[in-house]
Amino acid sequence: MTEIRVGVIGCGGIASSTHAPNYLKVPGVTLVACADVDLSRAKAFAKRFNIPSYYQDYREMLDRESLDAVSVCTPNRFHKDPAVAAMKAGAHVLVEKPMAATLSDAVEMWRISKETGRVLIVGFQSRFNPSVVTLRDIVSSGELGSVYYARALHLRRWGIPSSPTFIDVDLSGGGALADIGCYAVDTAMYVLGFPEPETVVGVTYTKFGRNPEYAGVGCWGSKWRVEDFKVEDMAVGFVKFENGLSMIIETSWASYIGKPAVFNVVLLGDRGGAQMEPLEVYRGMTLEEYRRLSYGPLNLVAKPVSSFPRLDVYYLRIARFVESVKLGKPLFSPADEGVKVQAIIDAIYRSAKLGREVEVQKPWKS
Ligand SMILES: NC(=O)c1ccc[n+]([C@@H]2O[C@H](COP(=O)([O-])OP(=O)(O)OC[C@H]3O[C@@H](n4cnc5c(N)ncnc54)[C@H](O)[C@@H]3O)[C@@H](O)[C@H]2O)c1
Repeated sequence: MTEIRVGVIGCGGIASSTHAPNYLKVPGVTLVACADVDLSRAKAFAKRFNIPSYYQDYREMLDRESLDAVSVCTPNRFHKDPAVAAMKAGAHVLVEKPMAATLSDAVEMWRISKETGRVLIVGFQSRFNPSVVTLRDIVSSGELGSVYYARALHLRRWGIPSSPTFIDVDLSGGGALADIGCYAVDTAMYVLGFPEPETVVGVTYTKFGRNPEYAGVGCWGSKWRVEDFKVEDMAVGFVKFENGLSMIIETSWASYIGKPAVFNVVLLGDRGGAQMEPLEVYRGMTLEEYRRLSYGPLNLVAKPVSSFPRLDVYYLRIARFVESVKLGKPLFSPADEGVKVQAIIDAIYRSAKLGREVEVQKPWKS
């Protein structure tokens, strides 16, 4: 495959800020078409990025353009249909995070990817952070021993995305958990090597989005009306895994916390502990250090691993997707992992709704 023909479905914020500009930077890629239910957006997008054809109906685009690859950048509720149609039309797909609005949508997308042999990648650009990759290497090297407890955190002091794409449950499928909690779940699962989840207790809160004192104050984008806010602004999950590991997930768009934002994975193992941001490893002293310093072995040594350069993770995910298309296999964040992340999100929402612990549905086992 010499020249990759790419189409974009959904020509809104993320398509304009990170998909199209990065495709234009990757050699051997041509942006040939785009589609948006709002034709004026498709037209403006095509003009801005010099794309020859634009459509209102992505199905027409798929019929006419014989695309090799498609970015699906629509609201979560509309990830499944365009992704499935694109794969059936022979295109490989990069779908925005979260994989879908529901677990059943994600499973269907994964099924079609297997059936058609098309690559389906969930666009978790966080996978390219050097601290994430290094933490995964540290865990798999055994340096921490057996990891028995994890905290996966993605919290903002104030950052409620105000557009319907995020706060209307019929478009988003969920609030803070679907939007940014998915990064916490994905990153923790990735560094831990995707252990098998068993049960979940989840709780959700809507403390700010429907409070007229707060609605629309100081966040980016336009203001929202309190009655339009139909999702949670915070979610908490407690997950138990088959191997004895347990994990807390905390995510919020708004909360009284000391920093503007926290995105971290904190791990406790029986040989050491570690955190992602900044990446540090905490371990007991070696016998030699212990003898020399005569401290007790439980005096921990903190090992700042390194400070990493900031990488353009949005460019990397597009470049890696293009490579995956050329090779015909996913080089990061494959659909089966997306389904596992979605299963935990699904279990947190189900538990919160039912008010009790629930079993994680595991379609990958059946
Ligand atoms: N990776 C990231 O950093 C990141 C950041 C923001 C958003 N996102 C994800 O990207 C997706 C889109 O978010 P956004 O901020 O760009 O939203 P947006 O509202 O700015 O854009 C969505 C676009 O999709 C169009 N659309 C809706 N239904 C469609 C359909 N059926 N067919 C074709 N077009 C359709 C809308 O008209 C709109 O132009 C969401 O899944 C979101 O979670 C990812």
